[in-house]
Amino acid sequence: MTDTSAWKALEEHAATMRHVHLKELFQQDPNRFQTYSMRNEQLLLDFSKQRITPETQSLLKTLADTCQLDTWKSRLLSGDAINTSENRPALHTALRQPQGSELLLDGHNIVDDVQANLAHMSDIVNRIHSGQWRGYSGLPIDTIVNIGVGGSDLGPYMSCRALSDAQLASGKKLNVHFVSSMDGSQIADLLDTLLPTSTLFILSSKSFTTIDTLSNANTAREWLRNASGASDDILNRRHFIGVSANAPKMTEWGIPENSQLNFWDWTGGRYSMWSAIGLPIALRIGMSRFKEMLAGAHAMDEHFRTAPFESNLPTQLGMIGVWNINFLDIHAHAILPYDGRLSHLPAYLEQLEMESDGKSVSRQGKEVDYRTCPIIWGEVGPNAQHAFYQLLHQGTESVMCDFIAPARRYHDTDNADLQQQHTLTLANCLAQSRILALGDSVLEDNESAPVHMRYRGNQPSTTVLMDELTPFSFGQLISLYEHKTFVQSVIWDINPFDQWGVELGKKMATNLLKPLMKETDGADLDGSSKGLLDTIHSLQEVNA
Ligand code: F6P
Repeated sequence: MTDTSAWKALEEHAATMRHVHLKELFQQDPNRFQTYSMRNEQLLLDFSKQRITPETQSLLKTLADTCQLDTWKSRLLSGDAINTSENRPALHTALRQPQGSELLLDGHNIVDDVQANLAHMSDIVNRIHSGQWRGYSGLPIDTIVNIGVGGSDLGPYMSCRALSDAQLASGKKLNVHFVSSMDGSQIADLLDTLLPTSTLFILSSKSFTTIDTLSNANTAREWLRNASGASDDILNRRHFIGVSANAPKMTEWGIPENSQLNFWDWTGGRYSMWSAIGLPIALRIGMSRFKEMLAGAHAMDEHFRTAPFESNLPTQLGMIGVWNINFLDIHAHAILPYDGRLSHLPAYLEQLEMESDGKSVSRQGKEVDYRTCPIIWGEVGPNAQHAFYQLLHQGTESVMCDFIAPARRYHDTDNADLQQQHTLTLANCLAQSRILALGDSVLEDNESAPVHMRYRGNQPSTTVLMDELTPFSFGQLISLYEHKTFVQSVIWDINPFDQWGVELGKKMATNLLKPLMKETDGADLDGSSKGLLDTIHSLQEVNA
């Protein structure tokens, strides 16, 4: 990669661009917004505060062509087995293809399977919303607890919060909770507040072998056993739904077949919120609004498939990221939503991008000699302003930022106070990206300020402006980031759909259970682990 003429040309260009400040770029071309902003449906992306010129874009296009981005895109969308280490396709886009369309996998139209699955999901949602689904005592279900972790948690968790305004009629409203952490602290606190008679647990796990999820699920069932005195058969039928790609494991745990929602091994965990893993979202906002979210994601898929390089939102987002990371040496990326409903977006993108592109071995099995996924983190923007923006403005790290905000909010209410709060939030969003880009040159007497009060600027950012936050625009937004992640994986020549880096930790934890439980002495451990183990044992003895 680094030997290609496309890469070398970008390196040469970067040698100049590294010394160019964003304020100069805006002086040279005050119409940068017109040049570098682009829209698709309900999203507008403004790249004008990125350190790019027309030359940068043309060189990035050559790099994308060199890496055969268009071919890879077609391979992804047509269901080629591009997840080579697991020998399967990555077909999350099929999950949002409309009814009646076609995507053949081994000669079989998987869109029909997806639609059948949605129908099963819809039936379950209806039975719960209508009060037909009853707990062991005959009371209807009014509380849902999703038990899952990683991709079986973060997507539905984020979406339920993001779409909290897409409420159902009051009779159908459900309390929806999420439990993910293996240490039991979430479930223990939550169970104290719930009624066993009307609580339903969704066990979400693609593999149905994740110990975090299974241990929380067992704790939940034990709680129901103790509270109800009912048989496991009744509890499993009335209080548990399983969502997994591993039906035999769901059955083994005790989930009856008609309470099992399946999905497929071609849906990666972190790409699964569009499948039955999204059941909590559908329960929260209703099936038709869930489908609006799928439609938004599909619109972005189509845009990704058809729009030319220059105006293709995910492609531009991905390629400009490559420019920042590999050529401007920026290795930190902050996700900054200016809307509290998107508070879980940073955590979601941390998994999506870092689990997908946090790799250092190419598709050919060679160590790469260039950077891949940067450190991604984030927080609701206005809160982060009072926490880590100091570093963004005056620290030593170059950081690229994504500002994400809806233009309209509360416009359909007559609450002037909330409308004012939204305006204030937008003012902060625009102010921060402006200062990050231009520094204190936005002030007239900036140069007279003492050095510790100066703002150097030149931190690049993209602003993602949503018309408003709806299921449709939200679907577009998440699909945008999925495809951006894919684009970068193509340039970096890595497989974004596996996650072998998480496996050894699981194995090692199982191995460490034995010495922790004093079944072995742990003599074979390294000095640090042995020291910690002994200290834990002695502290546990004191407490006993
Ligand atoms: O350990 C990482 C991981 O496999 C993620 O990729 C996945 O989203 C998460 O664990 C949960 O896995 P599962 O859905 O199989 O429980």
